[in-house]
Amino acid sequence: MSGNAAPANLVLIGLMGAGKSTTGLRLAKRLGRPFIDTDAQVEVDTGKTIAEIFAQDGEDGFRRAEAETVSRICQQRGQVIAVGGGTVLNKANTAVLRKNGTIFWLDVEPDILVGRMGSRVSRAHRPLLADATSADELHRRVNDLRDARDEAYRSAAHHIIRVDGGQSGEAVITEILRIIGHRPPKHP
Ligand code: S3P
Repeated sequence: MSGNAAPANLVLIGLMGAGKSTTGLRLAKRLGRPFIDTDAQVEVDTGKTIAEIFAQDGEDGFRRAEAETVSRICQQRGQVIAVGGGTVLNKANTAVLRKNGTIFWLDVEPDILVGRMGSRVSRAHRPLLADATSADELHRRVNDLRDARDEAYRSAAHHIIRVDGGQSGEAVITEILRIIGHRPPKHP
């Protein structure tokens, strides 16, 4: 192995509300690596919000833009990357993410996801859930998405981090750092 190759990207996958962006940003800071959120990058690349892309070009248009952004981002190593909840449904995306990266599935209990997405604000960039009109409807959609995507997440992931509500965000980061063999700098 070459001694000076940048380390593999750390890629966070999972459903909307799983905490990919929050966890990714904190993880990146801890490791001193750049953090990329593919949803935010799609918005920069297209000059449109995700809601605008869905409204103007449909989900297919969003998936095309997402695939272009993901493919470009994955040319680089050494990053922490949070992808959208549907990114790994496209096998080409999964292949490029795995080529230069280690993939962690944040597998979060649906009840926790629904709790995090209760407000309209938190659903604003999530057109697939934005128009759910009741808590029951939101529950049903999240459960349907989970059933439909479980296999794609499982087969894309190198590691599964289960989040059942008992552990803190910090515990998730500690678990990822343990898996990659990161040793925190010693305090003087
Ligand atoms: C989507 C998840 C969203 C965003 C888009 C579609 C999905 O990202 O990419 O609204 O299909 O699950 P987050 O998972 O970051 O909310």
